[in-house]
Amino acid sequence: MTYDFRIEAADKPTLYRDLASALEGLVAGEPDAIANMANASALIWETLPDLNWVGFYRNVGGELVLGPFQGRPACIRIPFGEGVCGTAASTLQVQRVDDVHAFPGHIACDSASNSEIVVPIVRDGKLLGVLDLDSPKHARFDAEDEAGLVRVGKILSEAM
Ligand code: SME
Repeated sequence: MTYDFRIEAADKPTLYRDLASALEGLVAGEPDAIANMANASALIWETLPDLNWVGFYRNVGGELVLGPFQGRPACIRIPFGEGVCGTAASTLQVQRVDDVHAFPGHIACDSASNSEIVVPIVRDGKLLGVLDLDSPKHARFDAEDEAGLVRVGKILSEAM
């Protein structure tokens, strides 16, 4: 079986709608969280422009531990409350950061990163992990990206 997603949408809402339906197809009937996170990170990497990292940190006993990703090797463990990912984990709020260098405690895994968005993945009020995207562009992620990625997180929380 081959998966060939060539998503070329005219605008961001359409792009994210296509991304969401491709993801729904990929995770359908598959309960394995690692497999679903691996395919999700590959799909996002292939679909969204101007990324230098996309992937997951999983909530393993109250600590964030690196999961499937695309990009350069990254920090493995992040305590809750630390950096952009740890802040998303401890607050359960999306963190959208236009300039990571201005974010107190930002953890620089790849010096190419200038902006970042982290979406908590929550089911029944419990944090399963976070989805993290980094970009070399300043202010790469806007409210439409946030809405689209929150939808991605919801699809995954239901599949994990
Ligand atoms: N910048 C993140 C760390 C993870 S890497 O970007 C992959 C942070 O501050 O939490």
